[in-house]
Amino acid sequence: MSESDKYPAESGRRRFVKGVVGGAALAGVGATGAAAINSATQASGAGGGATQAYAIENTDGPAPRGMPQIPVAIDDEGYLKGVWPEVKTEKQGGISIQIAETENFKGSGVTYTSEWFQYCGVESYAGLEPDYDSENYFRVGSNPGYEWQSETYSEGDRLHVDDFSNYQTWTGGMGEAVGKGATGRWRSEDAEDIIPIQVIKSDRVMELAQQDPWIEASTQDGFIAWLNKCTHFCCVPQFKNEGSAKFGAENDVYCQCHQSVYDPYSLVQTLFVARPRPE
Ligand code: FES
Repeated sequence: MSESDKYPAESGRRRFVKGVVGGAALAGVGATGAAAINSATQASGAGGGATQAYAIENTDGPAPRGMPQIPVAIDDEGYLKGVWPEVKTEKQGGISIQIAETENFKGSGVTYTSEWFQYCGVESYAGLEPDYDSENYFRVGSNPGYEWQSETYSEGDRLHVDDFSNYQTWTGGMGEAVGKGATGRWRSEDAEDIIPIQVIKSDRVMELAQQDPWIEASTQDGFIAWLNKCTHFCCVPQFKNEGSAKFGAENDVYCQCHQSVYDPYSLVQTLFVARPRPE
């Protein structure tokens, strides 16, 4: 990770970006964000700016906000995919650019866009290009986060729902059996930079989906997924991570770099300034 990939450590902005924010806060952060983008990048690039994303909540540690969700889909054969927004062409500053955006995602009222993932340098990854050629499956990476994955899969295999069937008893060796996790990659085949993701199947997700239109739209059969890049300094956290128990986070997602904790069963709206994609 290069220095420039790191998210700026701004303590002053944190109070604006955490949790659900109102219009006034959005306007305030938008103004700050424009200035930040102008000073942080030479070229204006595509997209970026004040963005509201749904995220798994950051509950402890220095991370400024939650990690953004990736809506889940399951194909006819039971393989897990991350939904990519619709690719469109839009005029920005008189120039036609491609964006990836779905308004009113599955009738939830939420606008889902690729800007949710534009932080920590991910904005420059090939997989974030709107028209990157991908089937959008979640695939096992070179260094899976869990032993069960190494026993079940080879690198590049697609995650399959059947392999989560013991999710009600699985503990990953710690804490309670609250759901079964897997790590993986998304939209990264043949790409230099890997987009890390994490998936959990849990009854808790099914319960949440009954109470909220967005969660119903973005999860399926108890599966939830998110971009697995800590919003602090871009490390890759893990659900039921070794070492998390010391911080009371054995049932949460824990980033061992600086002890940030995320609750995958609390989904919140976050506001942040998405970085523009390179031109
Ligand atoms: S807590 Fe610092 S990178 Fe995750």
